[in-house]
Amino acid sequence: MTNRIEEEIIEQVRTSNDIVDVVSEYVQLTKRGRNYFGLCPFHGEQTPSFSVTQEKQIFHCFGCGAGGNVITFVMDIENLSFQDAVSKLGSRIGLTIEESSSDSSEAKAPVSKEVTIMKKAHEFASDYFHHLLLHTVEGEDALNYLEERGFSKEIIEKYKIGWSLTSWDALTSLLERKGMDLQEIEKTGLIIRKENELKYFDRFRGRIMFPVFDEGGNVIAFSGRILHKSENEAKYLNSPESPIFQKSQVLYNLDKARLDIRKQRNVIVFEGFLDVIAASKAGITNGVATMGTALTSQHILKLNRLTSNVTLCYDGDKAGMEAAKRAASALQSQNIQTEVAIIPDAMDPDDYIKNYGEEAFRTKIIEKPHSYLSFMMIVSKRDKNFNNENDTLQYIQEILEILSERNSSVERDLYIRQLSQETNVSEEAIYQHLRKLQGNKAKQSKNQRPETLQVNPEMKKKKKTLSADERAERILLSHMLHNSQVIDIARNINGEQCFIRDVYEAAYVRLTGFYEDYPEGDFQRFLEVINDAEIRNIVMEAALSERDPDHEQEEVMDCLRHIRKYRVEQQIEQKLHEAKEAEKMTDIVKALQLAQEAIQLKKSLAAFEK
Ligand code: GTP
Ligand code: MN
Repeated sequence: MTNRIEEEIIEQVRTSNDIVDVVSEYVQLTKRGRNYFGLCPFHGEQTPSFSVTQEKQIFHCFGCGAGGNVITFVMDIENLSFQDAVSKLGSRIGLTIEESSSDSSEAKAPVSKEVTIMKKAHEFASDYFHHLLLHTVEGEDALNYLEERGFSKEIIEKYKIGWSLTSWDALTSLLERKGMDLQEIEKTGLIIRKENELKYFDRFRGRIMFPVFDEGGNVIAFSGRILHKSENEAKYLNSPESPIFQKSQVLYNLDKARLDIRKQRNVIVFEGFLDVIAASKAGITNGVATMGTALTSQHILKLNRLTSNVTLCYDGDKAGMEAAKRAASALQSQNIQTEVAIIPDAMDPDDYIKNYGEEAFRTKIIEKPHSYLSFMMIVSKRDKNFNNENDTLQYIQEILEILSERNSSVERDLYIRQLSQETNVSEEAIYQHLRKLQGNKAKQSKNQRPETLQVNPEMKKKKKTLSADERAERILLSHMLHNSQVIDIARNINGEQCFIRDVYEAAYVRLTGFYEDYPEGDFQRFLEVINDAEIRNIVMEAALSERDPDHEQEEVMDCLRHIRKYRVEQQIEQKLHEAKEAEKMTDIVKALQLAQEAIQLKKSLAAFEK
């Protein structure tokens, strides 16, 4: 459970830092009516849609949906953990906050001594390598090589590129002289222990050193490229996994790209860190890369907090395309808008830039990505011959599998036309096949309800005008945010599932859990523990909505009734749809039965009128 004093400190930090003052340090605000407005710092815009409400101590951007309170604002704009943001705001009001003063689910575990030593050694090593490259005779060859490869001084500094001496123990002996704990440092692989001896030596020798940074900008690993080719040494040598370096978590460059990802509402995911650097030469500042692993769900979670638009830019060879396919499908399953930039002729981004220049890379590759479906068509086509009937059918099957998962009819028509043109199979026949596939899918999905709550992309689209049912959901959530008892009332009346839209339901589930941990918590505290931007946005909007606290009971009942009514209307539509389908199949008995059921349901709607 939570520690009283800690919660009190958070409370004090939040209430003593006026949000208007803090935001004003980053954004020029003007007062209009009761609120302050300015240009949103989280996305590029010309007209101010970023607002700060002093009365409620929250901010909200109507353009990009960013929102939160003073603590989450500092987290977002400074790229800090919850704990560090509280600490920073604490010092603003003359409060020194201990390392482990927070326990929100987002906050990091107290930093262990071990981790501190490891990071310190890495920071020291990266300073040392960087210095060797830029300012010593020993680093000259490497510096020349980098310059020849088009690495400017600016890039070398931005990515803190360095050089490791060819000596066996240059770094080790420096670390030793500084009195650092070599036994701990050895666990990161930065130095290696000699067999049967208590002596250590450097892992990286005679290599161009690329530090890997964590989200907070700390060096946690290295990749070293050999300068002079050698038969028995790998071209690139990477740090092994360690307590500070977990490949499944790390996205190279996320520390530097974070704000640009937010602003551009898009992230480019590359296969290798060198691609990120190459792309940054072309002015692409929203790139990240995995460190020699496939894109994991943890990576996706990190990206999803910043944006729901991902562009993949993997190598154009077979391995790269296969990796892109897996990454794309993982992203799609998390409802992230995915596009794929394809590099021709099996080149990697670096090769492409070398051959065609930075401008072409930006305008022809990165700015012209393929939709997920069109990418899948390209990949699927690669090894098929449409003169062969089996290949043709296989191709159609593969694409329809994907199409059947999607509900845009425009998209469906577009791709079916394309499929037909490519394969010479009639559109008619392809539609028929699609319907069959969808029929099978519907049967399957009836028997299995999805276990996890997922945010549907349709929900993600910003709606300008709010439908009546979404208004009901918003006001209901708003009451729940201000009074935990409303949750019990709602559950008693509407059953387990209180809301219509998945994202509201997800917010409600989190809120229920939140009240268990923080029975006295309010929506301000709740905002600080939600790590999903989409849900935070919904919570913000609910918190801002015009709930009437004096008529809580009536409003809550009204919203609940509205949601129940909406559900019945959905059932009616479903029945009518199924009836039509049955009619098409000339199953008149079933069609009549379904129509009857729809009429019964329609009658039951009368109960919802007051
Ligand atoms: P050249 O094209 O020969 O100038 O070398 P490069 O430095 O551009 O590297 P290359 O194109 O061969 O490789 C591209 C990417 O593949 C690198 O950025 C690395 O991430 C990865 N890679 C290449 N060789 C190795 C290796 O030996 N070990 C590891 N771990 N990764 C490698
Ligand atoms: Mn290369």
